[in-house]
Amino acid sequence: FDPKTPQFFTSDASSFASVSAHKRWPVIVTGAIDDLHRTVGDVTDDDKAKEGKSIIAKFTTLKYELQHDRQLTPLDDDGESDIASYNKELEQRGNPSWHNVAWLYAECYLYRRMETFFALSKHWKGYDVFGRQKLSTFKSSRPAVLELAARYRELAQDAASGKQSEGKSAEEVEQAERLLFSEMCEICLWGNATDLSLLTSLTYEDIQKLQGSQARKDSQSNIIVNDLGAAFETMQKARREKKDGERRVDIVLDNSGFELFVDLILAGYLLSSGLATSIVLHPKRLPWFVSDVTPKDFSDLLNSMVDPQAFYTASDESGKTHPPLSDKEVADVQFLFKQWSEFHQDGKLILRPHSFWTTQGCYWRMPHVAPELFEDLKESELVLFKGDLNYRKLTNDAQWDPTTPFTTAIGPMGPKSGIRVLAFRTCKADVVVGLPAGEDEKLRQLPDGGGNEARKWAWSGKWAVVSFSDGKA
Ligand code: F6P
Ligand code: MG
Repeated sequence: FDPKTPQFFTSDASSFASVSAHKRWPVIVTGAIDDLHRTVGDVTDDDKAKEGKSIIAKFTTLKYELQHDRQLTPLDDDGESDIASYNKELEQRGNPSWHNVAWLYAECYLYRRMETFFALSKHWKGYDVFGRQKLSTFKSSRPAVLELAARYRELAQDAASGKQSEGKSAEEVEQAERLLFSEMCEICLWGNATDLSLLTSLTYEDIQKLQGSQARKDSQSNIIVNDLGAAFETMQKARREKKDGERRVDIVLDNSGFELFVDLILAGYLLSSGLATSIVLHPKRLPWFVSDVTPKDFSDLLNSMVDPQAFYTASDESGKTHPPLSDKEVADVQFLFKQWSEFHQDGKLILRPHSFWTTQGCYWRMPHVAPELFEDLKESELVLFKGDLNYRKLTNDAQWDPTTPFTTAIGPMGPKSGIRVLAFRTCKADVVVGLPAGEDEKLRQLPDGGGNEARKWAWSGKWAVVSFSDGKA
């Protein structure tokens, strides 16, 4: 079912696949081992501690195999139905080794394998080895969270008082709405720049710099494909034509913490502006690519907002304390919490996990592998795919010519699929499509752009693409 264009391989020395396999994955596995050591150290139940140590040993073996370019071994059966398909594909791919394997397959396999260690245990089922890291990074997003909460509350209150449209013509109102839509989408887009699998060594200050409103303004010209206009037209048309009908928007989530927070900002805006009547969120079933959202991350986020004072001022692991929030800051965050909880309770904000999202394949396979999910997405007005991995899966992480139209590169998810796709992605991998002729060449000539050898400009999250495909047209 996959396209013919070849995929990126960890053996392509000039690709980010190679950097990932040689440098990033060992660091990620080491981080997981460190986390387990800390947790096991606090366990009082001997049996559980003993089992914890045996899980550490499995991680150590994995790291050894990875660093010594051993073959990927078949996954142990943890009772879930996707295991057979991972193992069948491993065989079909000729039992490759870590440094010469399709990047997308190997990276999914890596996270799925870690999951088997916990799923097959007695005491550690459901343990999230990245949980500690996700939580502490979210705490460091405090300034950006407070800034956005204040902005959002102000907007919501203006909207409720009718202040936004006071004395304005219909065109001016529409123009203002279009701008606001873009602002909300850009907040949501750049929230993807800080995922934890890539940015393994970010300081508190680095994170804050990446997330503020100034950073967003500075980055506007870095959106090299921008189909937000077309997406807005579609949403507006749906609102006009189905005024009293159901208008659902889906968000295939990426990272938890700050990115999930901005996804919810967008969701809240779409619901309160009437551009959508319900939002379906798609999280992952298991810990995935370090920071991806699981259902527990979603509830942890909401819980942190019930009492923001306690959450943000508790001393962190290094013992560092933080100044208290002002009364207004607390009220801003609680305003969001109240609105989101109400949407959730009213069934307007729904979480819908599906095992397809953590399978190894690209989304070209969806109609065959998960036909019911494919049908379900047709019910939506717009399906928003967040982040780099979703983009790689939409395009099969293949070596497309960068001028290939997005609608071609997403195959069965494209024209006539019945699904409207909108991808929000900060570029953190080599694959990119939909660029005007000459753009890739131009970006390669920038300092750190990679020149003729590599597409390095696309590895760091500095550049972004927003690509739309109207599969209902
Ligand atoms: O490129 C680095 C990387 O870890 C990719 O392997 C992966 O596609 C991506 O980052 C994860 O990023 P995101 O959270 O945006 O999907
Ligand atoms: Mg991610």
